[in-house]
Amino acid sequence: MTSKGLRKIFLDFFKSQGHIIIPSSSLIPENDPTVLFTTAGMHPLVPYLLGEKHPEGNKLASCQKCIRTSDIEEVGDKTHLTFFEMLGNWSLGDPKAPDGIGSGYFKEKSIKMSYEFLTSKKYLGLDKKYLAVSVFAGNENAEFDKESYDIWKSLGFSKKRIAKLSQKSNWWGPAGQTGPCGPCTEIFYWAGDSQTIPDEFNADDDNWVEIWNNVFMEFNQVKDGNDYKLSFLKQKNVDTGMGLERVLSILNKVNDIYKTEAFSNLIFKIEQLSKKKYNESPEITKAMRIIADHLKAASFILGDDKGIAPSNIDQGYIIRRLIRRAIRYGKQLGITYELWTKEVVKIVIHDYLEQYPELQRNADFIIDQLKTEELKFKKTLSIGLKKFKKIIKNKTNGLISGKEAFNLYQTYGFPIEMTEELARENDLVVDKEDYLKEVKEHQKLSRTASAGKFKGGLSDARKETVRLHTAAHLLLAALRQVLGNNIFQKGSNITKERLRFDFSYPEKLTQEQKQKVEDLVNKAIKDDLAVKMEEMELKKAKDSGALGVFDAKYGNKVKVYTIGKDNYVFSREICGGPHVKHTGELGHFKIIKEQSSSAGVRRIKAILTHI
Ligand code: SER
Repeated sequence: MTSKGLRKIFLDFFKSQGHIIIPSSSLIPENDPTVLFTTAGMHPLVPYLLGEKHPEGNKLASCQKCIRTSDIEEVGDKTHLTFFEMLGNWSLGDPKAPDGIGSGYFKEKSIKMSYEFLTSKKYLGLDKKYLAVSVFAGNENAEFDKESYDIWKSLGFSKKRIAKLSQKSNWWGPAGQTGPCGPCTEIFYWAGDSQTIPDEFNADDDNWVEIWNNVFMEFNQVKDGNDYKLSFLKQKNVDTGMGLERVLSILNKVNDIYKTEAFSNLIFKIEQLSKKKYNESPEITKAMRIIADHLKAASFILGDDKGIAPSNIDQGYIIRRLIRRAIRYGKQLGITYELWTKEVVKIVIHDYLEQYPELQRNADFIIDQLKTEELKFKKTLSIGLKKFKKIIKNKTNGLISGKEAFNLYQTYGFPIEMTEELARENDLVVDKEDYLKEVKEHQKLSRTASAGKFKGGLSDARKETVRLHTAAHLLLAALRQVLGNNIFQKGSNITKERLRFDFSYPEKLTQEQKQKVEDLVNKAIKDDLAVKMEEMELKKAKDSGALGVFDAKYGNKVKVYTIGKDNYVFSREICGGPHVKHTGELGHFKIIKEQSSSAGVRRIKAILTHI
């Protein structure tokens, strides 16, 4: 089975079960400042899980590209990945929910569909004797998920194969700190020796590989003072997720994600470049996995239409970390080929361009950025490693000081995580607190990518962010009036306090242009224009002049928000919402900064006052 085959069989199955197939969204969440990447198929659906109406209906399925960065340093074993594809199906609202929204399904149908897809010969045809499941055992906030337990029993699972696990394993979400969440039931497959398959399921045994998660999202985690509490959502949702690469490794009986077709061309290329074999030694296997994973993930982030380049903050910092870590392992493998990372990346583009055409569109950008970053880092890597060795040579206290770590970062471009990893390999630790003090003092790293990103969650539909979201639509319309119709949105990021908006334009805006834009937005606010939402076919939306960000992420039916009065249209955009009802609710619009974001892209930061 190939990636392409698995995507197709999964999506076809859910189509036959009445689901609409929606395309993968961007890897960089739109309008969500609280997370760096899309980490699950449900992520782009958060507004709909919270109750917004989805234009394509309430039964959806997708194959979503995802990035998870929490365990970059775990990558190197058989299962961990930074970039992966998640197959998923959703029901937004259950017919038996208290207020009876929608015609979706809940636990029974969800579990039965998963079971049928996995075991039926028409689909994956896995033998049930290799399957086991877990359900939520209950805690002080939510009860034992007896319903799921009983459904699995009715499907013939013995008690020994249904584990009741705690919140840590069987409660999913929210994606940030607030938002939709709920108990989940996970399905595992025995990937060990078929002769030794135990009767009893033990989730701690690595031979049981988790392949599918069904989350029953009927709760909303909300802020309660300094704490969080659960409340019931308006509707009962189903959110499922199945890691494509993991299932591929099961279906192909390879028990190593990197031996599937999703990696075979990449590993082959790395073998060629290094003149070594994947299975030569555990160190070589590990290094090849890291290189394949990291360069694939970096290519997808660079190729995401947002023009994000390596940098010292946010997503750019993650790209930098990934590329630099790959280069370090390339050095360990003895790759001497000049500017080799781009050779690996070309394979990523080739392997994925059919499913993700944005990689092809952005191929030049991806390769250029790779080259630049590799050149930059290579210049200092060897000297940096020598310096590191010198630092650790006479250590007696086992500690690398903050100053030493900061110097490795500032002078040799070693991301702190890399220094920490090198330290661990040498049985040392970095004094992180001391390091952070150094950073503060130098005020060089205002934010590291991994810190402080989970504030509100995508569910952030607070009044302030909704207002700023509507203001972003007015801003785009105003920019197009002042600078011309070749202005397009390249990204946006909204916090409670301000909006950040990236758009295509080659030059700095003049004071006069900025003033004009501000005035136009404030006039639209003063005119108290109505904000109207309509659902329509994508083609009709485009024909009606609605602006969209990136074609690739829309389904056939979309929501269009029009801001205007009578027949006058000030702005029309394809957007998931939510928005205010009238622009009069926005107060006063003010641009606080206009700067370059990347080549050909400008960035505006703006706020609303006098609300
Ligand atoms: N959100 C759940 C997960 O990521 C199911 O999709 O596992």
